[in-house]
Amino acid sequence: MKIDAVSIFPDYFKVLELSLLGKAQESGLITFTAHDLRNWTHDRHKTVDDSPYGGGAGMVMKPEPWGEAFDDLLEIETSPVVIFTTPAGIPFTQALAQELSESEHIVFACGRYEGIDQRVVDHVGTMARVLEVSIGDYVLNGGEVAALAMIEAIARLIPGVIGNKESLAEESHNDGLLEYPSFTKPKVWRELEVPEVLLSGHHAEIEKWRKQQQLDRTKTNRPDLLEL
Ligand code: ADE
Repeated sequence: MKIDAVSIFPDYFKVLELSLLGKAQESGLITFTAHDLRNWTHDRHKTVDDSPYGGGAGMVMKPEPWGEAFDDLLEIETSPVVIFTTPAGIPFTQALAQELSESEHIVFACGRYEGIDQRVVDHVGTMARVLEVSIGDYVLNGGEVAALAMIEAIARLIPGVIGNKESLAEESHNDGLLEYPSFTKPKVWRELEVPEVLLSGHHAEIEKWRKQQQLDRTKTNRPDLLEL
């Protein structure tokens, strides 16, 4: 999979060299490039923002550098998906991560300030599949951290990026429920014991207990997931 990210702070993406995603890049499963939006400016100050039409607080990202960035980065042959990170987007979910993990090419456009001139989103929509996506109901200073979260969630679903397929199957959000709690050695730690059933070796009982834990946890932490 080819992944590009456009940002005025491309250094944010250095963490992608670490751990499993770093290995996935080394092995060629993922080709990731962070681009500095200011490379597509032409004035001495490398200006990327301006005041909003209609008034209001803050600055808006100018369309011209973004337009040139997409002219350079989008190749129709790879059916690119362009993701604009914004708190005003559709929610990022495991299902969306799963779907996007099958893409050939994803471009993340990381806005700052009050966002990007909306014409950029509309214009890019004529050249590629465009999604405005939010990682949650809170506001970050910019889209870089949101893009990083999405890249990690998507990339780990690409076959070969994670060694153990079962660990993907059993985690939270895969079956609409949160994951059951986990325990490891020692059997007693600070007078706290591991639940007896997990030591029993009785697989059917363990499975039953885990399912109940999933339901209890989901009911407590995320009741919204149980409402249909
Ligand atoms: N940019 C700022 N806040 C964001 C959020 N919650 N999701 C995606 N992009 C953002």
